Amino acid sequence: MAIERIVDTSVNAGMSPSDGDVDEQQIEVTLRPQSFDEYVGQERLKKNLRLSIDAAKKRGEPIDHVLLYGPPGLGKTTMATVIANEMVTNIRVTAGPAIERPGDLASILTNLQDGDILFIDEIHRLSRTVEEVLYAAMEDYKLDIVIGKGPAARSVRLDLPKFTVIGATTRTGSLAAPLRDRFGLIYRLEFYTPEEIARIITRAARILESTIHPEAAQTLSTRARLTPRIANRLLKRVRDYADVNGDGIIDITTTNKALAMLEIDELGLDPADRNLLSRIIDSYGDQPVGLTTISALTGDETTTIEDFYEPYLLQIGFIERTPRGRRATVKAHRHLGKPLAEA
Ligand SMILES: Nc1ncnc2c1ncn2[C@@H]1O[C@H](COP(=O)(O)OP(=O)(O)O)[C@@H](O)[C@H]1O
Ligand SMILES: [Mg+2]
Repeated sequence: MAIERIVDTSVNAGMSPSDGDVDEQQIEVTLRPQSFDEYVGQERLKKNLRLSIDAAKKRGEPIDHVLLYGPPGLGKTTMATVIANEMVTNIRVTAGPAIERPGDLASILTNLQDGDILFIDEIHRLSRTVEEVLYAAMEDYKLDIVIGKGPAARSVRLDLPKFTVIGATTRTGSLAAPLRDRFGLIYRLEFYTPEEIARIITRAARILESTIHPEAAQTLSTRARLTPRIANRLLKRVRDYADVNGDGIIDITTTNKALAMLEIDELGLDPADRNLLSRIIDSYGDQPVGLTTISALTGDETTTIEDFYEPYLLQIGFIERTPRGRRATVKAHRHLGKPLAEA
């Protein structure tokens, strides 16, 4: 059974925007878990999916359409591959921005086979017209297409194979309600615990044939923003450092030196995160500030702030969302050594 290799087509594959080299993408492919057993954490998600998959297999049917959402790097694309492997089925991979017109979608859909999985990354970036075709197809496995132009045009209805859409998005809010409603299974991926991240790092080191001491893995696990992609990236950086400056063994001393060089602090914040917080605090103290203002302060796109920086800062309680905008908390002030403005 041919399983297409997953290529991450997302422009900003969840690393800081300037930071996605080919080498790193290659490593991601190598490290990507293939089964539920290899996929660390997300226990609730795995339990629910296992049940759906077992039931579908028993009935000899494809599983319901699945929507996975959550910040970049938490394992959405990986989970799509795992589902395909566990269902023993083909997976076709595409992304919202790649499907420009309804015709593009029609040609993808008509080339599917019974039971195939269609993985649509960044599904929130589909155009409205494509969305409409998609949700009709998901609903009753039919495709209405118009043949010809002008007065001679006629509409034909094609039968489609029984397929499963797995959609991935960093934001469910931007998904049109009718499309969202077509997904029988909707799951949010959660940040990982440091213990889970340590297991991911240890597994990755084994695959990369690097020796890492447990304390080093433990330290890295607290610096990775609770995110597997960042954990793997850090591991790779520290490994490079150990190769160049030592005997290649990743121990606690090398790890601390490498982290200092990368300017990653005890909470996993890098200079860009600290810059964002400092700018908010210097201009607004602990008062709420709108997203577009933050974007003007840092020069980052609002989507980069929302998708990439903010989720972890919210998770660790450094930023709060209020009806009037984002607010830097007392914790953030303390971490950066900034005094709290007098009320
Ligand atoms: N649960 C997990 N266990 C182990 N490694 C993981 C897990 N989730 C993600 N990874 C690693 O992190 C990388 C990024 O995951 P990915 O699925 O591309 O994230 P997303 O699609 O949510 O942005 C993968 O290549 C994989 O190596
Ligand atoms: Mg992805």
